Amino acid sequence: MSEHLTVVDHPLVQHKLTQMRDKDTATPEFRRLLREISQLLAYEITREMELTTKRISTPMQEMDAPVLQGKKLALVSILRAGNGLMDGVLELIPGARVGFVGLYRDEETLQPVQYYFKVPENLEDRLVIAVDPMLATGNSSAAAIDLLKEAGATNIRFMCLLAAPEGVAKMKEAHPDVPIVTASLDECLNEKGYIMPGLGDAGDRMFGTK
Ligand code: URA
Repeated sequence: MSEHLTVVDHPLVQHKLTQMRDKDTATPEFRRLLREISQLLAYEITREMELTTKRISTPMQEMDAPVLQGKKLALVSILRAGNGLMDGVLELIPGARVGFVGLYRDEETLQPVQYYFKVPENLEDRLVIAVDPMLATGNSSAAAIDLLKEAGATNIRFMCLLAAPEGVAKMKEAHPDVPIVTASLDECLNEKGYIMPGLGDAGDRMFGTK
């Protein structure tokens, strides 16, 4: 992907996103919409995956038919909200290998600290798609990408539902080689680090917590 930021402005994505933003949308509906949007974002983010051909026989004749080339892609969820995006992508790409990155924010230093890291082997040979619905300050996303690079990943893309300009700028500075695909570039962060107009706390809304 040549663009650092791609906003998927497809009407279906935008319509579903409006439903997700609405504070009256309940958890089951929110989760369903997230799954549907994640598949539309996955369509965009995998657009340039490489193909090769394989000889097959249709009922009519033989042909060289296109199939994906290389190792299975790695889908990495940034816990916990990343799991909501991951589920839908896995339905679309069931053969994907799955990884998890868990980070929390140290209350004193305000820096992300790793508490869990498990990723597929041979990351260097795979397209790696890191998923987290909300790109807010970008600190945890950039730290997660640092960890993926340390583990060998060289071809990484980042999928989110909403991005704040602050998060995009942070990612561009830290990881200019990682294209971002999102459903919306929102206006700003508020003083508590929430995306505005946003949709609130994505994890709470998808898991029904407070
Ligand atoms: N994380 C969320 O869940 N929501 C925001 O608005 C920002 C970060």
